Amino acid sequence: MNKGVIKLAPSILSVDFAHLGKHVGEAEEAGADRIHVDVMDGHFVPNISMGAPIVQSLRQVTRLPLETHLMISDPDFFLDEFTEAGSDSFLVHWEGNNNLHRTVQRIKALGKRVGVAINPATPAAVLEEILQDVDQVLVMTVNPGFGHQHFIHTTLPKIRRVHRMIEEIKPGCDLEVDGGIDATTAPFAVDAGANVLVAGSAIFNESDGVVAAMKRLLAAVEQMMG
Ligand code: DX5
Ligand code: ZN
Repeated sequence: MNKGVIKLAPSILSVDFAHLGKHVGEAEEAGADRIHVDVMDGHFVPNISMGAPIVQSLRQVTRLPLETHLMISDPDFFLDEFTEAGSDSFLVHWEGNNNLHRTVQRIKALGKRVGVAINPATPAAVLEEILQDVDQVLVMTVNPGFGHQHFIHTTLPKIRRVHRMIEEIKPGCDLEVDGGIDATTAPFAVDAGANVLVAGSAIFNESDGVVAAMKRLLAAVEQMMG
């Protein structure tokens, strides 16, 4: 189990974009650690979402770090554009990237935090040689591409494995989970070792609002931790 502070990374994929600034402001007030921006190109994943202009707009309305989850082919082509727009960190996928080490080094050279993401069917072992170079790992707990999906429980043993690898190879590296995280599933992920929770629909689509939803998520985790 992760006994440190649990951080929330609200994903704006689920926000009503007509009120993006307002909702991100609420998340900031409620203690969000960072804002998670899901970038999809309709090629790496079967959906299209948003690009650098959204990051540029967000940069005007929040001081929170903007974490950019690149679910796109050839992420290297877009790093400069997102950096200029105001991204503070990048999450790039192991899948489909033949030159992951180069991509990671390019992000570091831009002075940004870097994380590697792995899909549900990708084993933890692929992280072994890159772990020492990254600031965080993202274990996808759904197949990337859409919000509102169900948490895949078979990813839990992998989260435990990644947690052990981090303790051994890169202590202090964030272990983030993304997909289907809500008050029911978050405790499982934290128990397995996650310390950063990405949540979209469980934060931005709750009828009692963003602040109540974030409190509920954290309360569920705290209850489990005792
Ligand atoms: C999925 C995205 C997630 C998504 C999570 O491909 O990477 O960040 O927004 O949404 P929920 O929390 O609704 O599963
Ligand atoms: Zn994401």
